[in-house]
Amino acid sequence: MIIETNSSHLRKEHWDSIFQSTDYTQVLWHQSSPQKSIDAIKKYLKDDANIIDVGCGASFLVDNLLHDGYKNITLLDTSKTSLDIVKQRLQDDALEYVCDDILNFKTLKKFDIWHDRAVFHFLLTKKERQKYFEVLSKSLKKGAKAIISTFRVDGPIQCAGLNIVQYNHEKMLQELPQNLELIQSEKYTHITPKKSEQEYIYFVITKKDIHM
Ligand SMILES: C[S@@+](CC[C@H](N)C(=O)[O-])C[C@H]1O[C@@H](n2cnc3c(N)ncnc32)[C@H](O)[C@@H]1O
Repeated sequence: MIIETNSSHLRKEHWDSIFQSTDYTQVLWHQSSPQKSIDAIKKYLKDDANIIDVGCGASFLVDNLLHDGYKNITLLDTSKTSLDIVKQRLQDDALEYVCDDILNFKTLKKFDIWHDRAVFHFLLTKKERQKYFEVLSKSLKKGAKAIISTFRVDGPIQCAGLNIVQYNHEKMLQELPQNLELIQSEKYTHITPKKSEQEYIYFVITKKDIHM
C-alpha cells in the first residue's frame, strides 16, 4: 500500500509511527557506519563548521561527527520520536534539535554544510522541490556545500511505504535554481540491514556568490 504524505502534518504522523513501531537499526536505510557522508563532510569542512543534518532520523552520522571533533551540529527531523532516540543515545546538550518539516524551516543561523540522506527524494512535486531549495539557499552561507543523497535511477522506487523520485546527474541539474551549482555526483550502493542492495547517488552542491 502506498501512503500519501502530501502535507507536513501527514509526513510527521507517518514518520513518527515508523520510529515508534520499528527498531531503527533494522530499517532499510540504516547504516551502521555512514562513511560516505562522513568522508564528504570532512573533505569540505573544518571541525568548527556549522552543520545541519536535514531529516537526520536516528542516524549515527552525528555520533561520528562528534567523535571526529565537530561540535556545531543541528539535527532537524519532522519526527520528534527520531530526535528523542538520538537525544537519549547521545545525552549531549550542545547539540541543537529542531522538530520541523524542512519545507517550513526558518533559521537566522547560516550553515557551512547541509547534509540530507534519503529525504529530498520524498518530495514528489516541483513546487515542494522548489521550496526545499529556497529553504536550503536561505540557510547556507555563500560558498557553503550541500551534500544530498537520494535513490538513483535504476534504484528503489519506494522507501518506508512512500513513493520517491529517483535521480541522476542530469535530473538533479534540472532541479537546481540559478544560485546553486552541482559540483559532484557519485554513485553508491548501500547494503541494507537485511543484506539487500540499494542504489544511491550523492550530490555535492555549492551555493554561488550571487543574489537571487
Ligand atoms: C529514510 S529516513 C533517512 C534518515 C537519515 N537521514 C539516515 O540516513 O539514516 C528519512 C528521514 O527524513 C525525515 N523526513 C521525511 N520528510 C521530511 C520532511 N519533509 N522534513 C523533515 N524531515 C523529514 C523522516 O522523519 C526520516 O527520519
